[in-house]
Amino acid sequence: MRMRNLYRKPTTLRCNAGSRCYSASAVIWSLLGCLLLFHLYSNIHHKHGEGREVQLRASNHPQFRELQQVEEEIIQLPPQKGKRSPRAAKRRHKRVTPLVDEFLDEDSRLRHVFFPGNNSAIDPVKVTGNDSYYYYPGRIWLDTDRNPIQAHGGGILYDERSNTYFWYGEYKDGLTYRAHKRGAARVDIIGVGCYSSKDLWTWKNEGIVLAAEEMNGTHDLYKSNVLERPKVIFNDKTRKYVMWMHIDDVNYTKAAVGIAISDTPDGPFEYLGSQRPHGYESRDMTVFKDEDGVAYLIYSSEENNVLHIGPMTEDYLNLMPVMRRVFVGQRREAPAVFKHQGTYYMITSGCTGWAPNEALAHAAESILGPWETLGNPCVGGNKMFRIATFLAQSTFVLPLPGFSGSFIFMADRWNPSDLRDSRYVWLPLIVEGPTHHSSEYISRLPLWSRVSIYWHRKWRLPQGWSTFK
Ligand code: GAL
Repeated sequence: MRMRNLYRKPTTLRCNAGSRCYSASAVIWSLLGCLLLFHLYSNIHHKHGEGREVQLRASNHPQFRELQQVEEEIIQLPPQKGKRSPRAAKRRHKRVTPLVDEFLDEDSRLRHVFFPGNNSAIDPVKVTGNDSYYYYPGRIWLDTDRNPIQAHGGGILYDERSNTYFWYGEYKDGLTYRAHKRGAARVDIIGVGCYSSKDLWTWKNEGIVLAAEEMNGTHDLYKSNVLERPKVIFNDKTRKYVMWMHIDDVNYTKAAVGIAISDTPDGPFEYLGSQRPHGYESRDMTVFKDEDGVAYLIYSSEENNVLHIGPMTEDYLNLMPVMRRVFVGQRREAPAVFKHQGTYYMITSGCTGWAPNEALAHAAESILGPWETLGNPCVGGNKMFRIATFLAQSTFVLPLPGFSGSFIFMADRWNPSDLRDSRYVWLPLIVEGPTHHSSEYISRLPLWSRVSIYWHRKWRLPQGWSTFK
C-alpha cells in the first residue's frame, strides 16, 4: 500500500516515475514537518501535573541555565578571638553562626569581603562593552551621578506608561546612631529614594520622592521616626501611583502603615497618613498587586509573631475588612510576594533586627492562604552562607517579563554600624521542578514547585532579555 511505502527509508523507495516519486517525497516531508511541529509544540506546551498548560520555561534558555550553576563560596573564617566588639557580644538573636558573628563584628578582618570598598564599586557609567550589566552582590553600586544607590528595603515598579523601572527604597545617607543604649541602630528619616532604569542595571537618581518632615514633631515623617520598606503600585482605575510603607516611632511601638500617592512614578508623593491595618500592629510589610488588579497588604503583626494578609480597597488607599493570619507563632518578617502560574510564593526572613538569618520560601494556591512552607530557597555558596541568606534579608522579588518562572530576588545586606553603607544582594530566583524540601515542612499535597535563589559572585541577565517574549 502506498501509505506503507511512505514510511520506508528513501533508499528503499524505488521511484523511477518522476511525478509519483515527487508526491511520495512531498508526503514524507509533510509528515516529517508535522512530527517536527508536534515535537516543538509538546516542548512549548508540555502538560503540567495538574493538567494546566505551561509555557516554554524561561530557564531552558542557555543563558538562564548558566544562572542555575551552583557556585561555591569559600569564606575562611579567622580563628575566634577571645573578645568580640561589645555590640557583637551583646547580640541576643538566636541563630548565630560563626559566619554571622564574624559579619557583625565591626573589627572583623573579613570586613572587606562582606563590604567591599570603593575600588570595586559597580559603576555603570564607566563600565562598557563586555563588562556591562554584571551584578556583583554586596559591592557598592553607583547611580548615573556616580553616587552609591540609596534605596534600601526597597521594591521595583515597572511603569508600563513609560516602559521604565522605578526602584523605591529607604534613603539612608545619614549618620547611624542609637536613640537609646538598647535601641536598634538607626538613621533619621530622610525620605524615600527613587531611581529609574530601562535595563535594571543603570539607575538614574530621580531624587527623594517622599521627604522627611523637618519641623513638625508630631508628623509621622518627622525625622526622628521610622520610615521603612516603601513599595509602590499603580492603580489602573484612579491612575495614581500608590506607596505603602512601614511607619513607626523611634522605639517601634507605633507599628503602623503609611500611604502616599502621586500622579507620576517619579513623585512627588503626597503623604495621606497612617493607620494600624485592621486595628493591628504592622511592622515589616510589602504589597502585592494581583493580575486581576486586586492589591494586598502583607505585614508582620502581633509582636511579629503572625503575618497578616488582607486585600486593599479598589483605590488602594485603604484596606477591606478581610484579613487572614498566617505563619502563626513563626515570627516571619521582610515578606516578598510573587506569583507564578497561578501559585503565590513568598520569601520571608526571621526576626533578628539588622542581623542576617535564614530565609524561607512559602507557597499558596490563594494569596489568603493556607500557606505552606517549602524551606530555605538558597542554593550555592556554603552552608553558613545559605542559612544567613548570603548575609542579606529579603525585600522584593521582581518578575522578569518574557521569562516565565524567572525572577530577581532583591535583598539588603544591612550594615548596622553604618546603615547608609548597606549593600544590595540581587540574585536569580527560579521556580522550577518539584520541591525537594519535603519532610521538614511539607505536610500534604499539592506538590509545590521548587523555589531556588542561586548564589553568584557575579552574574547578569541574558543579553537582550528585555526584548525576549
Ligand atoms: C528588621 C527589619 C528592618 C528594620 C530592622 C530594624 O527586623 O526587617 O526592616 O526594621 O529590623 O532593626
